[in-house]
Amino acid sequence: MQGFKRTTGCGQVSELLLGQKITLAGWVQRRRDHGGLIFIDLRDRTGLMQLVFNPDFSKQAHADAHSLRSEYVIAIEGLVVERSGATINKDLATGRWELQVHDLSILNKAKGLPFMLEEADNVEEELRLKYRYLDLRRPVMHKNFALRHKVTFAIREVLNSEEFYEIETPILTKNTPEGSREFLVPSRIHNGNFYALPQSPQLYKQLLMASGMDKYFQIARCFRDEDLRADRQPEFTQLDMEMSFIQEQDIQGVIERLLAGIWKKALNVDISLPFKRITYDVAFSNYGSDKPDFRFGLPITDITSLFKNTELKFLKAVLDKNGKIGALHVNNKEFTRSELDGLVNRAQQLGAKGLLWMRIKDNTVESPVANFLPADFAQQLQAQFPDAKNGSTFFLIAGSYKEAWTLLGRLRLELANLLNIIPHNEFNFSWITDFPLFEYDEEKKRWEAAHHPFTSPQSGWEQLEPAQMKARAYDVVLNGVELGGGSIRIHDAAVQDKVFELLGLTKEQVQVKFGFLLEAQELGFPPHGGIALGIDRMIMLMCGAASIREVIAFPKTARGIDPMMEAPTPVDVEQLKEYGLRLAPVKKD
Ligand code: AMO
Repeated sequence: MQGFKRTTGCGQVSELLLGQKITLAGWVQRRRDHGGLIFIDLRDRTGLMQLVFNPDFSKQAHADAHSLRSEYVIAIEGLVVERSGATINKDLATGRWELQVHDLSILNKAKGLPFMLEEADNVEEELRLKYRYLDLRRPVMHKNFALRHKVTFAIREVLNSEEFYEIETPILTKNTPEGSREFLVPSRIHNGNFYALPQSPQLYKQLLMASGMDKYFQIARCFRDEDLRADRQPEFTQLDMEMSFIQEQDIQGVIERLLAGIWKKALNVDISLPFKRITYDVAFSNYGSDKPDFRFGLPITDITSLFKNTELKFLKAVLDKNGKIGALHVNNKEFTRSELDGLVNRAQQLGAKGLLWMRIKDNTVESPVANFLPADFAQQLQAQFPDAKNGSTFFLIAGSYKEAWTLLGRLRLELANLLNIIPHNEFNFSWITDFPLFEYDEEKKRWEAAHHPFTSPQSGWEQLEPAQMKARAYDVVLNGVELGGGSIRIHDAAVQDKVFELLGLTKEQVQVKFGFLLEAQELGFPPHGGIALGIDRMIMLMCGAASIREVIAFPKTARGIDPMMEAPTPVDVEQLKEYGLRLAPVKKD
């Protein structure tokens, strides 16, 4: 079969091909040897097809088929026939047909694989990543990447119709501080100097607005040297966008139309517009998070006032320091004692000093601190929680507002999982708006930009303390995951200067790092703003995958390693010399 020409895909065999000779090529998924007859499931990107080798059709092909093993690559020519009633496989798209093979070519043999593809879910991730090309052969991975392709294709279609230009920006660049550590690349030509890999194309896209490009997008690779998690990789992909002469609502409108277009084109799902909008302050006070999962309720209630005159020392100590007490209320589950203990432990693992539970039973309160509560405390709770009833349980955390609410926010997610109240087939989008402009970094003892230093403050900011200043920033959140974030930018050099000053940068530092930006801001800079969406996160949520590694072809492990290529690797001394570099002795932990 030298020079064979594949005529169709395994999963594309249909009634239309009945009685025809076709040529298929692919991988041997399974071989069943029934002596006289040999059955092979042949797999390619389109699906599976059953092949039958019978000496009556071809002695040679039948003889050769004895040697076939899992993952051999073969090409075959054969006749499409109907399967007999009892052998029809209803679970398979091609389950009504089989192929009587006349000609077989073995294109490549396979030794025993390091893991069985069907069992990949139970294999160490490091092994899957070492043999990623095998892991990617699995139909579930093909499905993820088919979806990923549909999404990027839909992005280009929608943004083209919205009159955006797709423009690439450099990978070798100067660092644009956005909060994370960057990867450095030593320069051979300019010894002692380094490029940085972009954390995002932030400043380039702003400068493209200075160029009058008006509407820009890029499916951009970004690099951040940060601690990895299930939804973080050191290199990841953003849909990066920027627009001129617009307000927040304009960008949010484009994103809503874009996401609706993507969901329709890639999943055939209608999402309702506009998205819910909620300010950061309200999100945090109700849900203890800047990315609340709105698929379920379980809000946080501030019950500090119920403890005004408390005798409980640990609560009094919190209140004396202006702290707060927040509670989550569950009225549809009777927790067992061990479930309550489990939640207390979990809260402690999350960083809480403790978790106090209270339960209303026969109109009195049951709790480890019941003896220290006023006699009418059950009634006080019922006054604060209109839907409280006998059997209601309350989970309390006390502390500084930020700390206690953050912990309650995490506990809310744990409880939702435990109560099984998260509708997993829902896509719940929202906008979080009016973020703070700055966050105080307790370790560095200085203000940091909450989004990035190029974000425009909201009007009236000059009269406020940094803690009170609000940003023209917004995040788009899907099912409790931050899908993207953006802002209206500063386009005025005086405002930019002032923000740099509040961030503690000296005039010299600003000049060295951002001289080009300040100059551009004085050479005709239009008002502009933008956003970036995490494409890996978006596909992860669309596929229902547990980690972005499932939707990135060649990801790094949680330890930042590529076990297939074995990167990073040491570099020999000669090569280092070209860069003017010498290594310090490796630190042993
Ligand atoms: P930001 O830093 O919020 O904004 O990033 C935008 C989105 O990118 C995704 N993301 C990541 N995905 C995977 N791994 C990571 N390590 C990672 N870090 C971020 C998230 C996030 O919401 N330049 C600004 C955007 C702008 O202002 O226009 C920026 O990069 O989904």
